[in-house]
Amino acid sequence: MKKVRIVEVGPRDGLQNQKALIDAGDKIALIQKLEETGLKDIEITSFVSPKAIPQLADSVEVARGVLTIARPDVTYWALTPNLKGFENALAAGIRHVAVFTAASETFNRNNINKSIAESFEAFKPVIAAARQNGCVVRGYVSTAFWCPYEGKIDPQKTVDVTRTLYEMGVSELSIGDTIGKATPEEVRQLLQPLASVIPIKHIAMHFHDTYGHALENIKASLALGVSVYDSSVAGVGGCPYAPGASGNVATEAVVRLMNSLGIDTGVDLAKLETTGRWLQDVLLKTSNPAAAG
Ligand code: HMG
Ligand code: MG
Repeated sequence: MKKVRIVEVGPRDGLQNQKALIDAGDKIALIQKLEETGLKDIEITSFVSPKAIPQLADSVEVARGVLTIARPDVTYWALTPNLKGFENALAAGIRHVAVFTAASETFNRNNINKSIAESFEAFKPVIAAARQNGCVVRGYVSTAFWCPYEGKIDPQKTVDVTRTLYEMGVSELSIGDTIGKATPEEVRQLLQPLASVIPIKHIAMHFHDTYGHALENIKASLALGVSVYDSSVAGVGGCPYAPGASGNVATEAVVRLMNSLGIDTGVDLAKLETTGRWLQDVLLKTSNPAAAG
């Protein structure tokens, strides 16, 4: 493989799980710094219930702030769990949205208060409205390998959920190791049957790095032809509805891995590392104002 696409999810997955509330201005500054590193896909926020994720309650302000000075070569993504979220995202200028469900019923109920079947029903009007408005829809399948409530997930269940989203018109399917517990062997056990029903170019991998397996899992995915990887600057992140889940694999680590394999990411590693340190500083100052300086 010569080139991979990185979807930077730090401003969404990273910031949704911070205890302290980050200023909208800092979020906008983060996204602009990420653009300057050469990243071309950035997930900037979520249009979800502010009761569920108070950390992203400023999604309209962030999206408007970012999109008024949008770069034409950057794709700005946002999560939209239902039609209300989609309409709010559209009004804020977003044209690339992501729906999200799971391979585990219990996780899905905790995360979006819906069964898997109910989530598909909620996505139908989102996908239809997206089509009418010329928007692109990505889809996440969380707990694709392991669930914090149900344990090991049967790969066939993940294949079935992913295939349904694909057949509904979702153009890119992001396979989530939500609690970072998958191993390279489990990645192969899932990707082989998945690739027999969905062309691999439509698959992205979303590894959290709780147990330090993410880079090995990315290598296993590369060997099977996956060319899209989600990651988070400085490895920040986690899902408040997945107890024990830590951050996404760090974008810096993914870029370093790809550089070592001679695979192009288009990302300037030095600028990315500077941005990662800047973000850690912002998080430190926000969680502990006494450390400001
Ligand atoms: P619900 O309570 O079932 O929704 O929540 P509802 O339709 O019954 O509405 C209840 C209230 O929420 C109403 O307000 C609605 O207007 C409001 P009220 O009348 O009580 O004042 N509401 C909304 N407000 C703003 N935006 C919306 C919206 N929809 C309803 N879009 C719902 C269902 C899906 C809304 C809720 O559970 C929710 O927002 N969940 C989001 C959870 C979340 O964001 N989790 C983290 C992202 S997923 C993740 O991190 C995993 C991933 O990274 C991949 C991986 O790692 O595996 C993607
Ligand atoms: Mg995630």
